[in-house]
Amino acid sequence: MRVFVTGATGFVGLATVSELISTGHEVIGLSRSDAGAETLIRTGATVARGDVNDLRRLREIASGAEAVIHTAFNHDSSADVRQESENDRKVIATLGASLPGPHAPLIITSGTGLAQSATGGPVTETDPHAPSSVFPRAASEEAAEALIEQGGNVMVIRLPQVHDTHRQGRILRHIQLAKQQGSVAYIGDGTNRLPAAHVTDVARLYRLVLENGQRGARYHAVTEQGVTLRAIAEVLGTQLRLPVQSLTPQQAQAYFGPLLQLAEMDLPASGTETQQRLDWNPTGPDLLTDLRSTDYA
Ligand SMILES: NC(=O)c1ccc[n+]([C@@H]2O[C@H](COP(=O)([O-])OP(=O)(O)OC[C@H]3O[C@@H](n4cnc5c(N)ncnc54)[C@H](OP(=O)(O)O)[C@@H]3O)[C@@H](O)[C@H]2O)c1
Repeated sequence: MRVFVTGATGFVGLATVSELISTGHEVIGLSRSDAGAETLIRTGATVARGDVNDLRRLREIASGAEAVIHTAFNHDSSADVRQESENDRKVIATLGASLPGPHAPLIITSGTGLAQSATGGPVTETDPHAPSSVFPRAASEEAAEALIEQGGNVMVIRLPQVHDTHRQGRILRHIQLAKQQGSVAYIGDGTNRLPAAHVTDVARLYRLVLENGQRGARYHAVTEQGVTLRAIAEVLGTQLRLPVQSLTPQQAQAYFGPLLQLAEMDLPASGTETQQRLDWNPTGPDLLTDLRSTDYA
């Protein structure tokens, strides 16, 4: 299939481009830089230059594809998440309107942390997301739902903490804090959890959803339901050679600052249904193994 991948130069996008090419798909990767374009060419993709918010250009590129995988999102620390999320709503609407015909697949990226469990257990694929008025980033799933209502062949992949030995999402912020504060910390008994998946497994799931996904379905790219913040802190303490401590809520405010709300959250998620429906058998290393092999210098 000729697949247009946005965010093709990013962590998840580039792994997905490699997976698609190695399994015989043709990839058009979006890049806004020369360096990104060179990386994509080396990977075997065709490059389309452009900014995702240039909707006319986006329409032009997407209309030449048979499918779209959308992973682009601006995570710059200076970015306004609400504004970026509303931009993403427009990007998704444009992609949906650009594909040739209602059967062409469009895969949207979201996060498991936006979903709300109906049972109090790990969030599942059928659990709805919080509204964008509560979590602005949910605008992407709302945009996907609007296209599905119009008959589009749209699917959503919710990501957990995606990792390898170079990137581990928000854990980087815990590492930076630990270096600044001289200790690694968790709150209370540290049993609150983060779901996770290795980036190569996530990339394979994007391909499986492209090839066999069901219109309107949500998939969870989750291989570990919940790794405790305490287990993560203990590995970081060993690797960074820093003491590990449990903090009271009052101490946590001073240590975590603006990260406090995130550090307190318990976010377990299940990928069982996704694994069964798509015969997705994860093989990558787990989060703690990758954290033990990371170069912290
Ligand atoms: N990684 C995780 O653990 C995780 C967890 C939950 C959800 N997600 C979601 O998964 C998606 C991919 O995440 P990631 O970790 O791969 O992010 P990433 O490494 O930061 O990559 C972001 C990609 O988006 C591109 N991009 C950003 N703004 C753009 C713009 N205006 N025009 C064109 N391209 C633009 C970047 O291009 P440049 O190379 O030019 O910067 C890059 O290719 C995002 O939607 C993210 O919110 C990720």
